[in-house]
Amino acid sequence: MNSSDLTIAIVGATGAVGRIALDLLADRNHPADKVVAMASARSAGKQIRYADTEITVIEATPESFENVDVAFISATSEVSKQLAPEAVKRGTLVIDDGSTFRMEDSVPLVVPEVNGADVEWHEGIISIPNCTTTPLVMVLDALRSISPITAVTVSTYQSVTGTGAAADAELMAQSRAVLDTKDVEIAEYPHQIAFNVLPQVDDFLANGYTKEEEKMLNESRKILHEPALRLSSTCVRVPVQVSHSESVAVEFQDSVSAEEARNALNSADGVLLVDEPSNSVYPMPLKAAGTDEVQVGRVREDIAHDTGLNLWLSCDNLRKGAALNALQILDEVLKRDRLKPSKVAAVI
Ligand SMILES: NC(=O)c1ccc[n+]([C@@H]2O[C@H](COP(=O)([O-])OP(=O)(O)OC[C@H]3O[C@@H](n4cnc5c(N)ncnc54)[C@H](OP(=O)(O)O)[C@@H]3O)[C@@H](O)[C@H]2O)c1
Repeated sequence: MNSSDLTIAIVGATGAVGRIALDLLADRNHPADKVVAMASARSAGKQIRYADTEITVIEATPESFENVDVAFISATSEVSKQLAPEAVKRGTLVIDDGSTFRMEDSVPLVVPEVNGADVEWHEGIISIPNCTTTPLVMVLDALRSISPITAVTVSTYQSVTGTGAAADAELMAQSRAVLDTKDVEIAEYPHQIAFNVLPQVDDFLANGYTKEEEKMLNESRKILHEPALRLSSTCVRVPVQVSHSESVAVEFQDSVSAEEARNALNSADGVLLVDEPSNSVYPMPLKAAGTDEVQVGRVREDIAHDTGLNLWLSCDNLRKGAALNALQILDEVLKRDRLKPSKVAAVI
């Protein structure tokens, strides 16, 4: 089956991820009359750009999924919790961008380049990972082909669109206010984000880590099928509009040369080696924004750990970190002829 034959709903079509999902569908020449743009009641009736035309946004309700083959839900946890089971009941495959279902045993959590085969056992809902987890597992999957990974330490540099369209607008407004020496208004984060760096992404847990850091650990374990993977992260919000970056330190069972690592990364699907330090060529959020690959560079042997390796990556959080990964999951489902679940979902 061809995806162009399917009626596809984008729930959250007015949001940061939803808009990119629409652009990606339009790039694939998906017919406008087979796209249903959904959002909250606030947006119902709005016209939204799709390819060279405009489509009307409708309110997402249980009934709006009648005759929808596939729904990409990029809204809020509450929306996913309420509407995904309703869509599944109506025979719609749900590919959900939020965290609601990611760790459910009955829900595959998929990055096609890493664990595409997991779509086989979906029961109506497939989740995409957090936008920091996706590029990380793609890199770790490539590297573990050289030697088993024993530990991973990550620091993230996350853009504001990772929080959504309102945080992007806030960064712009705060930046203007600072330059104009006006008062800064703070709504999206606990502190000003313009001209600042926040070592907090999401709420703190009792162990001193944040929920975002916990998600990176649990989701990486599930996708890589390595339930004992040791991974510690520090997630940091930076005043960048699009693309998350990560400084990654990997420890292996055996020593791994930078050359071996570069070769493995070079042959990994969806990974682009950008690594010419002598010419100041390395991944940067500005260059990664609008592109599809996980860009990796600064690959070097770790001088503090005998079997360690360090690298740096940047990846567009709205594309491979969200909308593109979701679309690629649909490609994987169609390739494997798994549009309909083999088993009817118990309502989650
Ligand atoms: N941003 C990223 O990089 C990223 C990456 C991976 C996953 N995700 C996940 O993707 C989801 C969306 O993120 P985002 O960044 O696009 O957020 P966003 O820019 O804040 O957009 C939220 C969208 O949800 C819609 N929405 C809100 N309440 C709704 C309701 N009751 N019914 C239907 N739609 C409703 C909004 O519609 P209105 O305009 O009508 O309010 C808007 O279209 C989140 O679950 C997030 O965790 C985001």
